[in-house]
Amino acid sequence: MINRRQFLYLTGAGALNLLNADGWPFASAGRAASMNKEFVPDLELALRAAPSQVKIFPGEPTTVWTYSGQVIKGDPNSLIHLDQTYLGPIIRARMNQKVRIHFKNDLSARSIIHWHGLHVPARMDGHPKDVISSGDTFTYEFEVLNRAGTYWYHPHPHGRTGHQVYGGLAGLFVVSDDEEEKLNLPDGALDIPLVIQDRAFNSDNQLIYLPRGMHDSMTGMLGDTICVNGKPDYTLSVSTRIYRLRILNGSNSRIYKLAWKDGTPLTVIATDGGLLEKPVHKKYVVLGPAERIELWADFSQYPVGSSLELVSKYFEPAMQGAAMGPRRGMMGGEILPNGAPFSVIKIDVTRKEKETRKLPQKLSSIERYQSRDTDNYESPRQFSFFMRHMHGLINGRTFQMQAVAGDEKVRLNSTELWELTNDDRRMGMMMMPMPHPVHLHGKQFQVVERSGVLHNGYVDEGWKDTVLLMPGERAKIVTSFTDYTGMFLYHCHILEHGDMGMMRNYLVS
Ligand code: C2O
Ligand code: CU
Ligand code: CU
Repeated sequence: MINRRQFLYLTGAGALNLLNADGWPFASAGRAASMNKEFVPDLELALRAAPSQVKIFPGEPTTVWTYSGQVIKGDPNSLIHLDQTYLGPIIRARMNQKVRIHFKNDLSARSIIHWHGLHVPARMDGHPKDVISSGDTFTYEFEVLNRAGTYWYHPHPHGRTGHQVYGGLAGLFVVSDDEEEKLNLPDGALDIPLVIQDRAFNSDNQLIYLPRGMHDSMTGMLGDTICVNGKPDYTLSVSTRIYRLRILNGSNSRIYKLAWKDGTPLTVIATDGGLLEKPVHKKYVVLGPAERIELWADFSQYPVGSSLELVSKYFEPAMQGAAMGPRRGMMGGEILPNGAPFSVIKIDVTRKEKETRKLPQKLSSIERYQSRDTDNYESPRQFSFFMRHMHGLINGRTFQMQAVAGDEKVRLNSTELWELTNDDRRMGMMMMPMPHPVHLHGKQFQVVERSGVLHNGYVDEGWKDTVLLMPGERAKIVTSFTDYTGMFLYHCHILEHGDMGMMRNYLVS
Protein backbone atom coordinates (compact mmCIF):
# COMPACT_ATOMS: atom_id res chain seq x y z
CA MET A 1 0.00 0.00 0.00
CA ILE A 2 1.06 3.55 -0.54
CA ASN A 3 1.60 5.27 2.73
CA ARG A 4 0.62 8.80 3.47
CA ARG A 5 4.11 10.11 3.10
CA GLN A 6 4.33 9.20 -0.52
CA PHE A 7 1.33 11.35 -1.26
CA LEU A 8 2.83 14.37 0.42
CA TYR A 9 4.54 15.53 -2.68
CA LEU A 10 3.55 19.14 -2.96
CA THR A 11 4.30 21.86 -5.42
CA GLY A 12 5.29 25.44 -4.80
CA ALA A 13 8.46 27.08 -3.65
CA GLY A 14 9.52 26.48 -0.11
CA ALA A 15 12.32 25.43 2.12
CA LEU A 16 14.61 25.06 -0.85
CA ASN A 17 16.13 28.39 -0.06
CA LEU A 18 17.88 26.66 2.81
CA LEU A 19 20.17 25.16 0.26
CA ASN A 20 21.58 28.44 -0.81
CA ALA A 21 23.98 28.23 2.09
CA ASP A 22 25.71 25.49 0.13
CA GLY A 23 26.07 27.65 -2.90
CA TRP A 24 23.52 25.89 -5.06
CA PRO A 25 21.51 28.19 -7.27
CA PHE A 26 18.05 27.11 -6.23
CA ALA A 27 16.54 30.49 -5.58
CA SER A 28 14.63 30.80 -8.84
CA ALA A 29 13.06 27.36 -8.60
CA GLY A 30 9.70 28.23 -10.13
CA ARG A 31 7.98 24.87 -9.95
CA ALA A 32 10.09 23.49 -7.18
CA ALA A 33 8.54 20.99 -4.87
CA SER A 34 8.41 21.86 -1.24
CA MET A 35 9.76 19.15 0.93
CA ASN A 36 7.74 16.80 3.01
CA LYS A 37 8.51 17.53 6.63
CA GLU A 38 7.79 13.99 7.76
CA PHE A 39 10.37 12.61 5.40
CA VAL A 40 13.70 12.67 7.17
CA PRO A 41 16.36 11.82 4.62
CA ASP A 42 19.46 9.84 5.50
CA LEU A 43 20.96 11.18 2.36
CA GLU A 44 20.22 14.47 0.66
CA LEU A 45 21.77 15.36 -2.67
CA ALA A 46 21.66 18.11 -5.23
CA LEU A 47 22.00 17.11 -8.88
CA ARG A 48 22.22 19.70 -11.59
CA ALA A 49 22.00 19.15 -15.34
CA ALA A 50 23.82 21.77 -17.39
CA PRO A 51 25.94 22.22 -20.50
CA SER A 52 29.62 21.75 -19.93
CA GLN A 53 32.88 21.05 -21.71
CA VAL A 54 35.15 18.09 -21.26
CA LYS A 55 38.48 17.20 -22.72
CA ILE A 56 38.00 13.89 -24.52
CA PHE A 57 40.59 14.32 -27.27
CA PRO A 58 43.67 16.50 -27.73
CA GLY A 59 42.69 19.92 -29.05
CA GLU A 60 39.17 21.28 -28.79
CA PRO A 61 37.15 20.30 -25.71
CA THR A 62 33.83 18.60 -26.39
CA THR A 63 30.60 20.37 -25.48
CA VAL A 64 28.39 18.00 -23.52
CA TRP A 65 25.41 17.98 -21.20
CA THR A 66 26.27 16.66 -17.81
CA TYR A 67 25.03 16.06 -14.28
CA SER A 68 27.04 17.47 -11.43
CA GLY A 69 26.23 16.82 -7.82
CA GLN A 70 26.76 17.74 -4.24
CA VAL A 71 26.04 16.01 -0.93
CA ILE A 72 23.87 18.21 1.27
CA LYS A 73 23.37 15.73 4.08
CA GLY A 74 24.80 12.30 4.79
CA ASP A 75 27.99 10.44 3.99
CA PRO A 76 30.20 12.67 1.81
CA ASN A 77 31.27 9.53 -0.07
CA SER A 78 27.73 9.05 -1.32
CA LEU A 79 28.77 10.86 -4.48
CA ILE A 80 31.80 9.75 -6.40
CA HIS A 81 32.99 12.21 -9.00
CA LEU A 82 34.80 10.71 -11.96
CA ASP A 83 37.30 13.08 -13.47
CA GLN A 84 37.27 14.44 -17.01
CA THR A 85 34.08 12.79 -18.13
CA TYR A 86 30.61 13.78 -19.20
CA LEU A 87 29.12 11.08 -16.93
CA GLY A 88 27.35 12.19 -13.80
CA PRO A 89 28.66 11.35 -10.33
CA ILE A 90 28.11 7.83 -9.04
CA ILE A 91 25.45 7.86 -6.34
CA ARG A 92 26.08 5.34 -3.56
CA ALA A 93 23.27 4.45 -1.20
CA ARG A 94 22.39 1.65 1.16
CA MET A 95 19.22 -0.37 1.11
CA ASN A 96 16.53 1.21 3.30
CA GLN A 97 18.12 4.61 3.25
CA LYS A 98 15.79 7.51 2.69
CA VAL A 99 17.04 9.67 -0.10
CA ARG A 100 16.08 13.19 -1.09
CA ILE A 101 17.45 14.53 -4.36
CA HIS A 102 16.96 18.06 -5.66
CA PHE A 103 17.23 18.00 -9.43
CA LYS A 104 17.92 21.39 -10.94
CA ASN A 105 17.45 21.69 -14.68
CA ASP A 106 19.91 24.18 -16.13
CA LEU A 107 19.65 22.81 -19.65
CA SER A 108 18.03 24.77 -22.45
CA ALA A 109 15.43 22.02 -22.71
CA ARG A 110 12.86 20.33 -20.52
CA SER A 111 14.03 17.29 -18.64
CA ILE A 112 13.38 14.91 -15.77
CA ILE A 113 15.51 12.21 -14.13
CA HIS A 114 14.49 8.56 -14.07
CA TRP A 115 16.06 6.08 -11.61
CA HIS A 116 16.52 3.07 -13.84
CA GLY A 117 15.91 -0.19 -12.00
CA LEU A 118 14.85 1.35 -8.69
CA HIS A 119 11.53 0.46 -7.13
CA VAL A 120 10.13 3.90 -6.28
CA PRO A 121 6.65 5.46 -6.16
CA ALA A 122 5.24 6.47 -9.55
CA ARG A 123 5.51 10.16 -8.70
CA MET A 124 9.25 9.73 -8.03
CA ASP A 125 10.02 7.62 -11.08
CA GLY A 126 10.72 10.40 -13.55
CA HIS A 127 7.78 9.90 -15.91
CA PRO A 128 7.98 12.13 -19.02
CA LYS A 129 4.76 13.89 -17.95
CA ASP A 130 6.76 15.24 -14.98
CA VAL A 131 9.37 17.09 -17.04
CA ILE A 132 10.47 20.42 -15.64
CA SER A 133 11.45 23.50 -17.60
CA SER A 134 14.80 25.13 -17.80
CA GLY A 135 15.58 26.79 -14.49
CA ASP A 136 13.19 24.63 -12.44
CA THR A 137 13.83 22.11 -9.69
CA PHE A 138 12.17 18.77 -8.96
CA THR A 139 12.65 17.21 -5.57
CA TYR A 140 12.61 13.44 -5.30
CA GLU A 141 12.01 11.62 -2.05
CA PHE A 142 12.10 7.85 -1.81
CA GLU A 143 13.35 5.00 0.24
CA VAL A 144 15.87 2.72 -1.42
CA LEU A 145 14.07 -0.63 -1.39
CA ASN A 146 16.23 -2.40 -3.93
CA ARG A 147 18.80 -4.99 -2.97
CA ALA A 148 22.48 -4.32 -3.55
CA GLY A 149 23.18 -3.78 -7.22
CA THR A 150 24.22 -1.50 -10.02
CA TYR A 151 21.37 0.74 -11.08
CA TRP A 152 21.54 4.03 -12.99
CA TYR A 153 19.89 7.33 -13.70
CA HIS A 154 19.21 9.23 -16.90
CA PRO A 155 16.79 11.80 -18.39
CA HIS A 156 13.36 10.79 -19.67
CA PRO A 157 11.69 13.70 -21.54
CA HIS A 158 9.52 12.21 -24.25
CA GLY A 159 10.99 12.40 -27.73
CA ARG A 160 14.29 13.74 -26.38
CA THR A 161 15.62 10.96 -24.17
CA GLY A 162 17.99 9.66 -26.85
CA HIS A 163 19.35 13.10 -27.50
CA GLN A 164 19.89 13.98 -23.85
CA VAL A 165 21.50 10.70 -22.82
CA TYR A 166 23.74 10.83 -25.87
CA GLY A 167 24.75 14.36 -24.92
CA GLY A 168 26.19 12.97 -21.69
CA LEU A 169 23.40 12.80 -19.14
CA ALA A 170 23.71 9.51 -17.26
CA GLY A 171 25.23 8.17 -14.09
CA LEU A 172 25.38 5.05 -11.94
CA PHE A 173 23.30 4.52 -8.80
CA VAL A 174 25.01 1.84 -6.72
CA VAL A 175 23.14 0.23 -3.85
CA SER A 176 24.76 -1.83 -1.10
CA ASP A 177 23.19 -3.97 1.62
CA ASP A 178 24.07 -6.29 4.51
CA GLU A 179 23.82 -9.48 2.48
CA GLU A 180 26.37 -8.22 0.00
CA GLU A 181 28.65 -6.88 2.69
CA LYS A 182 28.98 -10.31 4.31
CA LEU A 183 30.42 -11.72 1.10
CA ASN A 184 33.47 -9.49 1.33
CA LEU A 185 33.53 -8.92 -2.42
CA PRO A 186 36.34 -6.79 -3.88
CA ASP A 187 35.72 -3.22 -2.78
CA GLY A 188 37.33 0.21 -2.78
CA ALA A 189 39.85 0.45 -5.61
CA LEU A 190 39.01 -3.14 -6.57
CA ASP A 191 35.37 -2.27 -7.33
CA ILE A 192 35.36 -0.66 -10.73
CA PRO A 193 32.41 0.94 -12.52
CA LEU A 194 32.54 0.64 -16.30
CA VAL A 195 29.94 2.46 -18.36
CA ILE A 196 30.21 1.41 -21.99
CA GLN A 197 28.83 3.77 -24.63
CA ASP A 198 29.44 4.52 -28.29
CA ARG A 199 29.67 8.03 -29.67
CA ALA A 200 30.41 9.74 -32.98
CA PHE A 201 32.52 12.89 -33.13
CA ASN A 202 33.26 15.38 -35.90
CA SER A 203 36.73 16.69 -36.72
CA ASP A 204 36.28 19.48 -34.14
CA ASN A 205 35.76 16.84 -31.42
CA GLN A 206 32.04 17.63 -31.16
CA LEU A 207 29.34 14.99 -30.75
CA ILE A 208 27.29 14.07 -33.81
CA TYR A 209 23.76 12.78 -33.28
CA LEU A 210 21.60 11.07 -35.91
CA PRO A 211 23.63 12.29 -38.92
CA ARG A 212 21.50 10.23 -41.29
CA GLY A 213 18.24 11.35 -39.78
CA MET A 214 15.43 8.86 -39.92
CA HIS A 215 17.72 6.01 -40.91
CA ASP A 216 19.67 6.46 -37.67
CA SER A 217 16.46 6.74 -35.68
CA MET A 218 15.33 3.40 -37.06
CA THR A 219 18.57 1.61 -36.21
CA GLY A 220 19.08 3.69 -33.10
CA MET A 221 22.13 5.94 -32.83
CA LEU A 222 25.37 4.03 -33.39
CA GLY A 223 28.72 5.73 -32.96
CA ASP A 224 32.09 4.53 -34.20
CA THR A 225 33.99 5.46 -31.04
CA ILE A 226 33.64 3.16 -28.05
CA CYS A 227 33.87 5.13 -24.81
CA VAL A 228 34.25 3.63 -21.35
CA ASN A 229 33.45 6.01 -18.50
CA GLY A 230 33.34 8.71 -21.14
CA LYS A 231 36.79 8.01 -22.58
CA PRO A 232 37.82 6.39 -25.86
CA ASP A 233 40.64 3.79 -25.90
CA TYR A 234 40.01 3.02 -22.26
CA THR A 235 42.86 1.33 -20.46
CA LEU A 236 42.72 0.04 -16.92
CA SER A 237 45.88 -0.68 -15.02
CA VAL A 238 45.41 -3.36 -12.39
CA SER A 239 47.39 -5.29 -9.82
CA THR A 240 47.46 -9.06 -9.49
CA ARG A 241 44.23 -9.04 -7.54
CA ILE A 242 40.60 -9.96 -8.02
CA TYR A 243 38.35 -7.13 -9.16
CA ARG A 244 34.65 -6.53 -9.25
CA LEU A 245 33.78 -4.97 -12.60
CA ARG A 246 30.36 -3.33 -12.71
CA ILE A 247 29.42 -2.99 -16.35
CA LEU A 248 26.55 -0.89 -17.66
CA ASN A 249 25.68 -0.81 -21.33
CA GLY A 250 24.80 2.89 -21.35
CA SER A 251 24.61 3.07 -25.15
CA ASN A 252 21.56 4.38 -26.97
CA SER A 253 21.34 1.41 -29.28
CA ARG A 254 24.49 -0.72 -29.41
CA ILE A 255 24.52 -4.33 -28.25
CA TYR A 256 27.77 -5.81 -26.93
CA LYS A 257 28.82 -9.44 -27.06
CA LEU A 258 31.40 -9.23 -24.31
CA ALA A 259 34.22 -11.73 -23.85
CA TRP A 260 37.82 -11.92 -22.71
CA LYS A 261 39.98 -11.88 -25.80
CA ASP A 262 42.12 -14.80 -24.60
CA GLY A 263 39.07 -17.05 -24.32
CA THR A 264 38.91 -17.20 -20.51
CA PRO A 265 35.23 -17.52 -19.57
CA LEU A 266 33.55 -14.51 -17.97
CA THR A 267 32.54 -15.04 -14.35
CA VAL A 268 29.25 -13.21 -13.84
CA ILE A 269 28.15 -12.50 -10.27
CA ALA A 270 25.31 -10.02 -10.79
CA THR A 271 22.81 -8.71 -13.33
CA ASP A 272 20.42 -5.71 -13.50
CA GLY A 273 18.82 -6.36 -10.12
CA GLY A 274 21.89 -7.41 -8.13
CA LEU A 275 23.70 -10.59 -7.13
CA LEU A 276 22.96 -13.96 -8.69
CA GLU A 277 22.47 -16.98 -6.43
CA LYS A 278 25.77 -18.35 -7.58
CA PRO A 279 28.39 -17.29 -10.12
CA VAL A 280 27.69 -18.12 -13.75
CA HIS A 281 30.50 -18.80 -16.22
CA LYS A 282 30.01 -17.68 -19.79
CA LYS A 283 32.05 -17.78 -22.98
CA TYR A 284 30.43 -14.44 -23.78
CA VAL A 285 27.66 -12.23 -22.47
CA VAL A 286 25.27 -10.38 -24.77
CA LEU A 287 24.42 -7.05 -23.16
CA GLY A 288 21.67 -4.90 -24.64
CA PRO A 289 21.19 -1.19 -23.97
CA ALA A 290 20.51 -0.45 -20.25
CA GLU A 291 21.50 -3.94 -19.08
CA ARG A 292 24.16 -4.47 -16.42
CA ILE A 293 26.43 -7.33 -15.46
CA GLU A 294 29.02 -7.57 -12.76
CA LEU A 295 32.11 -9.64 -13.31
CA TRP A 296 34.48 -11.34 -10.91
CA ALA A 297 37.74 -10.62 -12.72
CA ASP A 298 40.71 -12.56 -11.40
CA PHE A 299 44.04 -11.12 -12.52
CA SER A 300 46.03 -12.84 -9.78
CA GLN A 301 47.60 -15.39 -12.11
CA TYR A 302 48.77 -12.94 -14.75
CA PRO A 303 52.40 -11.83 -14.69
CA VAL A 304 53.16 -8.16 -14.23
CA GLY A 305 53.62 -6.67 -17.69
CA SER A 306 50.91 -8.75 -19.33
CA SER A 307 47.81 -7.32 -20.96
CA LEU A 308 44.26 -8.51 -21.40
CA GLU A 309 41.40 -7.23 -23.42
CA LEU A 310 37.67 -7.18 -22.94
CA VAL A 311 36.26 -7.32 -26.45
CA SER A 312 32.90 -7.27 -28.17
CA LYS A 313 32.69 -10.17 -30.60
CA TYR A 314 31.01 -10.38 -33.96
CA PHE A 315 27.33 -11.28 -34.10
CA GLU A 316 24.71 -11.21 -36.81
CA PRO A 317 22.66 -8.16 -35.88
CA ALA A 318 19.31 -9.45 -37.04
CA MET A 319 19.75 -13.16 -36.73
CA GLN A 320 16.30 -14.46 -37.52
CA GLY A 321 15.49 -11.60 -39.80
CA ALA A 322 18.58 -11.97 -41.92
CA ALA A 323 16.68 -13.73 -44.66
CA MET A 324 14.28 -10.84 -44.92
CA GLY A 325 16.52 -8.48 -46.78
CA PRO A 326 19.97 -7.06 -47.31
CA ARG A 327 22.35 -6.53 -44.43
CA ARG A 328 22.59 -3.16 -42.78
CA GLY A 329 24.10 -0.45 -44.89
CA MET A 330 21.41 -0.03 -47.49
CA MET A 331 21.07 3.64 -46.80
CA GLY A 332 24.59 4.72 -46.29
CA GLY A 333 26.21 2.20 -44.00
CA GLU A 334 27.34 2.81 -40.45
CA ILE A 335 31.05 2.79 -39.95
CA LEU A 336 30.63 0.39 -37.07
CA PRO A 337 27.35 -1.50 -37.41
CA ASN A 338 25.73 -3.33 -34.51
CA GLY A 339 27.43 -6.73 -34.39
CA ALA A 340 30.82 -5.56 -35.63
CA PRO A 341 33.75 -6.72 -33.46
CA PHE A 342 35.99 -4.30 -31.55
CA SER A 343 38.03 -3.90 -28.40
CA VAL A 344 36.26 -2.39 -25.39
CA ILE A 345 38.78 -2.22 -22.55
CA LYS A 346 42.50 -2.88 -22.45
CA ILE A 347 43.76 -4.09 -19.11
CA ASP A 348 47.43 -3.82 -18.17
CA VAL A 349 48.68 -5.80 -15.20
CA THR A 350 51.17 -3.40 -13.67
CA ARG A 351 51.66 -4.29 -10.00
CA LYS A 352 52.27 -7.44 -8.00
CA GLU A 353 50.05 -7.76 -4.94
CA LYS A 354 48.93 -10.62 -2.76
CA GLU A 355 45.43 -11.97 -3.25
CA THR A 356 43.56 -14.06 -0.72
CA ARG A 357 39.90 -13.72 -1.79
CA LYS A 358 38.06 -16.71 -3.19
CA LEU A 359 34.99 -16.69 -5.36
CA PRO A 360 32.01 -17.38 -3.07
CA GLN A 361 30.03 -20.36 -4.33
CA LYS A 362 26.84 -18.92 -2.91
CA LEU A 363 26.23 -15.22 -3.47
CA SER A 364 22.62 -14.75 -2.52
CA SER A 365 19.32 -16.53 -2.35
CA ILE A 366 16.71 -15.79 -4.92
CA GLU A 367 13.25 -17.22 -4.79
CA ARG A 368 12.76 -18.41 -8.34
CA TYR A 369 9.36 -17.91 -9.91
CA GLN A 370 7.88 -20.27 -12.41
CA SER A 371 5.15 -19.52 -14.92
CA ARG A 372 2.62 -21.45 -12.87
CA ASP A 373 3.24 -19.29 -9.80
CA THR A 374 1.44 -16.42 -11.52
CA ASP A 375 -2.17 -15.27 -11.31
CA ASN A 376 -2.58 -15.31 -15.09
CA TYR A 377 -0.71 -18.49 -15.93
CA GLU A 378 -3.48 -19.55 -18.31
CA SER A 379 -3.42 -16.33 -20.29
CA PRO A 380 -0.15 -14.43 -20.11
CA ARG A 381 -0.33 -10.78 -21.02
CA GLN A 382 0.96 -10.41 -24.57
CA PHE A 383 3.06 -7.45 -25.64
CA SER A 384 4.32 -7.33 -29.17
CA PHE A 385 7.04 -4.84 -30.15
CA PHE A 386 7.58 -3.69 -33.71
CA MET A 387 8.42 -0.69 -35.88
CA ARG A 388 6.03 0.41 -38.58
CA HIS A 389 5.96 3.50 -40.78
CA MET A 390 8.55 5.26 -38.65
CA HIS A 391 6.59 4.62 -35.48
CA GLY A 392 7.56 2.41 -32.60
CA LEU A 393 4.60 0.28 -31.62
CA ILE A 394 3.62 -2.00 -28.74
CA ASN A 395 0.58 -4.11 -29.57
CA GLY A 396 0.03 -1.69 -32.44
CA ARG A 397 -0.12 1.36 -30.20
CA THR A 398 2.31 4.21 -29.98
CA PHE A 399 3.11 6.24 -26.83
CA GLN A 400 0.50 8.59 -25.45
CA MET A 401 1.52 10.51 -22.37
CA GLN A 402 -1.38 9.57 -20.10
CA ALA A 403 -2.97 6.66 -21.94
CA VAL A 404 -3.42 3.22 -20.43
CA ALA A 405 -5.21 0.56 -22.48
CA GLY A 406 -7.33 -2.24 -21.03
CA ASP A 407 -4.54 -4.79 -21.33
CA GLU A 408 -2.16 -2.44 -19.51
CA LYS A 409 -4.01 -2.40 -16.21
CA VAL A 410 -2.53 -4.43 -13.42
CA ARG A 411 -3.83 -5.23 -9.93
CA LEU A 412 -1.77 -4.24 -6.94
CA ASN A 413 -0.27 -7.33 -5.26
CA SER A 414 -0.80 -9.59 -8.24
CA THR A 415 1.95 -11.81 -9.63
CA GLU A 416 1.85 -11.76 -13.39
CA LEU A 417 3.22 -13.52 -16.41
CA TRP A 418 4.00 -11.28 -19.37
CA GLU A 419 5.02 -12.57 -22.76
CA LEU A 420 7.15 -10.06 -24.65
CA THR A 421 7.66 -10.61 -28.36
CA ASN A 422 9.87 -8.89 -30.86
CA ASP A 423 7.66 -9.02 -33.94
CA ASP A 424 9.93 -7.02 -36.18
CA ARG A 425 10.41 -9.96 -38.50
CA ARG A 426 6.97 -9.19 -39.80
CA MET A 427 8.35 -6.18 -41.59
CA GLY A 428 8.54 -5.90 -45.35
CA MET A 429 11.56 -6.25 -47.60
CA MET A 430 12.70 -2.67 -47.24
CA MET A 431 13.17 -2.62 -43.50
CA MET A 432 15.77 -4.17 -41.31
CA PRO A 433 14.25 -6.04 -38.39
CA MET A 434 15.49 -4.43 -35.20
CA PRO A 435 16.41 -5.74 -31.77
CA HIS A 436 14.22 -4.43 -28.94
CA PRO A 437 15.59 -4.44 -25.39
CA VAL A 438 12.39 -4.24 -23.36
CA HIS A 439 12.47 -2.42 -20.03
CA LEU A 440 9.89 -2.13 -17.26
CA HIS A 441 9.94 0.83 -14.94
CA GLY A 442 9.43 0.33 -11.25
CA LYS A 443 10.02 -3.42 -11.09
CA GLN A 444 12.67 -6.06 -11.25
CA PHE A 445 11.44 -9.25 -12.90
CA GLN A 446 12.56 -12.79 -13.65
CA VAL A 447 12.86 -14.28 -17.11
CA VAL A 448 11.18 -17.68 -16.88
CA GLU A 449 11.16 -18.70 -20.51
CA ARG A 450 12.91 -17.49 -23.62
CA SER A 451 13.43 -18.37 -27.23
CA GLY A 452 16.33 -16.96 -29.08
CA VAL A 453 19.40 -17.39 -31.14
CA LEU A 454 21.84 -15.53 -28.92
CA HIS A 455 20.56 -17.27 -25.79
CA ASN A 456 23.98 -18.66 -24.87
CA GLY A 457 24.97 -15.11 -24.06
CA TYR A 458 22.02 -14.15 -21.89
CA VAL A 459 22.26 -14.22 -18.12
CA ASP A 460 18.67 -14.83 -17.04
CA GLU A 461 19.45 -16.43 -13.68
CA GLY A 462 18.83 -13.36 -11.53
CA TRP A 463 16.69 -10.26 -11.32
CA LYS A 464 16.32 -8.16 -14.45
CA ASP A 465 14.71 -4.89 -15.47
CA THR A 466 15.60 -5.06 -19.15
CA VAL A 467 15.43 -8.07 -21.44
CA LEU A 468 16.97 -8.08 -24.90
CA LEU A 469 14.82 -9.47 -27.68
CA MET A 470 16.45 -9.95 -31.05
CA PRO A 471 14.13 -9.97 -34.10
CA GLY A 472 11.68 -12.83 -33.73
CA GLU A 473 12.63 -13.58 -30.13
CA ARG A 474 10.22 -13.85 -27.23
CA ALA A 475 10.55 -14.02 -23.47
CA LYS A 476 8.19 -14.72 -20.62
CA ILE A 477 8.77 -12.66 -17.51
CA VAL A 478 7.27 -12.80 -14.03
CA THR A 479 6.93 -10.04 -11.49
CA SER A 480 4.79 -9.11 -8.50
CA PHE A 481 3.30 -5.64 -8.46
CA THR A 482 3.77 -4.67 -4.84
CA ASP A 483 3.86 -1.46 -2.78
CA TYR A 484 3.12 1.21 -5.33
CA THR A 485 0.08 2.08 -7.37
CA GLY A 486 0.15 4.44 -10.31
CA MET A 487 1.37 4.71 -13.85
CA PHE A 488 4.74 3.31 -14.87
CA LEU A 489 6.40 3.07 -18.25
CA TYR A 490 7.48 0.05 -20.18
CA HIS A 491 9.41 0.56 -23.39
CA CYS A 492 12.15 -0.37 -25.79
CA HIS A 493 15.48 0.87 -24.43
CA ILE A 494 16.90 1.60 -27.86
CA LEU A 495 16.38 5.21 -26.92
CA GLU A 496 15.45 6.34 -30.41
CA HIS A 497 12.76 3.64 -30.55
CA GLY A 498 11.32 4.87 -27.26
CA ASP A 499 11.43 8.42 -28.59
CA MET A 500 9.58 7.22 -31.71
CA GLY A 501 6.80 5.91 -29.53
CA MET A 502 7.80 2.34 -28.63
CA MET A 503 6.76 3.09 -25.08
CA ARG A 504 3.53 2.76 -23.13
CA ASN A 505 2.19 3.10 -19.62
CA TYR A 506 1.00 0.31 -17.40
CA LEU A 507 -1.19 1.17 -14.47
CA VAL A 508 -1.09 -0.52 -11.09
CA SER A 509 -4.24 -0.01 -9.04
CU1 C2O B 1 16.34 3.50 -18.46
CU2 C2O B 1 12.54 4.37 -19.13
O1 C2O B 1 14.45 3.88 -18.79
CU1 CU C 1 13.74 2.56 -16.10
CU1 CU D 1 13.45 -1.13 -30.16
